[in-house]
Amino acid sequence: MTLVAEAFAKVNRALVVRGRRPDGYHDLDTVFETIDLTDRLRFEESSDVVLAVDDPAIPSGTDNLVLRAAEALRRAAGVARGASITLEKRIPAGGGLGGGSSDAAVTLAGLVRLWDLDVGPERLAGIAATLGADVPFFLTGGRARGTGRGDRIEPLPDAPPTWFVVLIPPFGCPTPDVFRALDAGPAQDAPADAGLPPERNDLEPAAESLRPELGRMRAALLEAGALASRLSGSGSTVYGVFPDRPAAERGAARVHGLPEFTRIRVVSSVSREEFRKRSEPRPET
Ligand code: C5P
Repeated sequence: MTLVAEAFAKVNRALVVRGRRPDGYHDLDTVFETIDLTDRLRFEESSDVVLAVDDPAIPSGTDNLVLRAAEALRRAAGVARGASITLEKRIPAGGGLGGGSSDAAVTLAGLVRLWDLDVGPERLAGIAATLGADVPFFLTGGRARGTGRGDRIEPLPDAPPTWFVVLIPPFGCPTPDVFRALDAGPAQDAPADAGLPPERNDLEPAAESLRPELGRMRAALLEAGALASRLSGSGSTVYGVFPDRPAAERGAARVHGLPEFTRIRVVSSVSREEFRKRSEPRPET
């Protein structure tokens, strides 16, 4: 049997830092939203677990979260099965779009089906959280709130479709560096709140202290007509919010003064139902 699935990217519509944790992580209150930008994965039965990636810039060895996901699942389920996994990479890496985390979540779901394992959603979310703070979100998709390290997921109802102009500069922002820069600045922990976090990203000043270009990119999106512009995750991706597709396309054509080689994408938000349909591993036709 060969299974195929799409792995979606996300943006953070809000990211509030609530404080530092004893484990070195930070307590977050974040709202994730799925966007229509995807990697593609194929899973085939095989004697060993092997990964082929079409992008030579992406590691295909044990550093890759796809292989770490396969190994974590084998260990948790106590099986010694193999799979030949192919990853078509379209989501830029190191950009705060969650591509690697999404690939890992789809790998968990794909291998549960390929190996016919009896691992329920809660256990899968637990395995996902060991792989990275963003991974559990990609088992739910759509719009969701993440608390704790960002790994405690509460699904939110779909919002009306939104269009984004996504700017992906030719450099990444390593997440640990951004959190270190945040810790070096003045402490400004936001107290917990029952309501959804305000639409802001507390990592912006830290990321922009490392990469001042990011602040200029946000300003360029507002000048091009965006209703709001924000950093996604720890960057380096910056996005602008637009009410509909024509407005987003006009904005994308108008935006200027970006770092050389910045990629510009116009993408829509993705409902939970569409996420489920396209990310659920299915037999290749
Ligand atoms: O979980 P993940 O491997 O994606 O996190 C990468 C790094 O980002 C962590 O090692 C930590 O430095 C930082 N981080 C954090 N607080 C979070 C999530 C990530 O400090 N909630």
